[in-house]
Amino acid sequence: MLKIDFNTYQKEKNYDEYQDKIKKIKEKLSTDNMTDWYDITKCISKEDIARIKNLSKTKFDLLIVIGIGGSFLGAKAVISALSPYFNDKKIVFAGTSLSETYLLELIEFMRDKDTIVNVISKSGTTLEPSITFDIIYKEMLKKYNDIELQKRIIITTDAKEGELRKLVNEKNYCSFEVPNQIGGRYSVLTPVGLLPIALAGFDIEQILLGTKYVSVDDAFKYAINRDILYKQGKLIESFTFYEPKLYYFTEWLKQLFGETQGKEKKGIYPTFSSNTRDLHSLGQFYQDGTPIIFETVLNINDKGNLITKYNKTLNEINNIALNKVALAHLKNDIESTIISIDKLDELHIGMLIYFFEIAAATGGYLLGVNPFDQPSVNAYKDLINIELKNS
Ligand code: PA5
Repeated sequence: MLKIDFNTYQKEKNYDEYQDKIKKIKEKLSTDNMTDWYDITKCISKEDIARIKNLSKTKFDLLIVIGIGGSFLGAKAVISALSPYFNDKKIVFAGTSLSETYLLELIEFMRDKDTIVNVISKSGTTLEPSITFDIIYKEMLKKYNDIELQKRIIITTDAKEGELRKLVNEKNYCSFEVPNQIGGRYSVLTPVGLLPIALAGFDIEQILLGTKYVSVDDAFKYAINRDILYKQGKLIESFTFYEPKLYYFTEWLKQLFGETQGKEKKGIYPTFSSNTRDLHSLGQFYQDGTPIIFETVLNINDKGNLITKYNKTLNEINNIALNKVALAHLKNDIESTIISIDKLDELHIGMLIYFFEIAAATGGYLLGVNPFDQPSVNAYKDLINIELKNS
């Protein structure tokens, strides 16, 4: 299950004055635009779950997932968290940069592999995935005939608009819709994230089930806690983990909180710390630098069985490190909330996703910004597109 420790490594806080605000936020989460992610039944239909489960039986050597931002980070986070460290790489992500080297090497890598492609873009116009898909699609056209391509190209995009939807209509490719009232960073539990996760071999129904075990009140409390810390001058939140498989999960958290709250010259700057590695670099700053940080520590309560020379399991020692570090940081006025799960599996990852989505949106409302737009990301896209059209 998912448990939150708000006490051991924190100073006492008064949450009472937030009760009225939270009551209003609860209403907004059910009535505002772009809040369909809050009701899991609106994230994905039963029909789409069945279609995805069916597609997940497809055999392939290589799946290329093309997308950026909210159209890639959720799937990447879950697949990285649940996959073994050492395996033959069957799933690669592309469209997250404009690196020519990456694409040239990917073309070489796919050459002798039975390949399928899932391109994901709500708008269908984002520069990086659009250029990447264009190039990879040309390679697919060289490799496969029209009938084969219909089994190998899967497009996740808007129901009506955009270049990708046009291609679906023209070529009859398999497609999924990005729900209209769900933005990129809140879309991991829609076909955007669930399709690649299922193709990677994970149980998406367990992930969805996980959301049912989330205490919504804990998510609100966590959001209030962050807001109080922010008002006390804590401007940086470090998502700290002791299991490196969570690296991309914290990349997803960076986007979720950064795009939700970083507006109108306000917001907490989200970053991460991969421990114990970073205790040997950033640890110095946390322990002794400007105390403008607070930590949200992701803990996995696994006992493990690898006995060390200290007659303890490695997981136990990792846990000792987590607790001692949180205590030491508190001495430098860095407070920690410890979020613990029993296991790193589909059920618990589903819990974490839904918990943080509620907390991020609530944080946006508490800050007085629109939690669901991203005007500056759109401005960046427009600037590049104008420049490219004029050249
Ligand atoms: O959260 C967001 O809305 C953004 O990060 C988008 O997901 C990202 O820019 C990709 O957009 P699109 O899916 O339209 O290609």
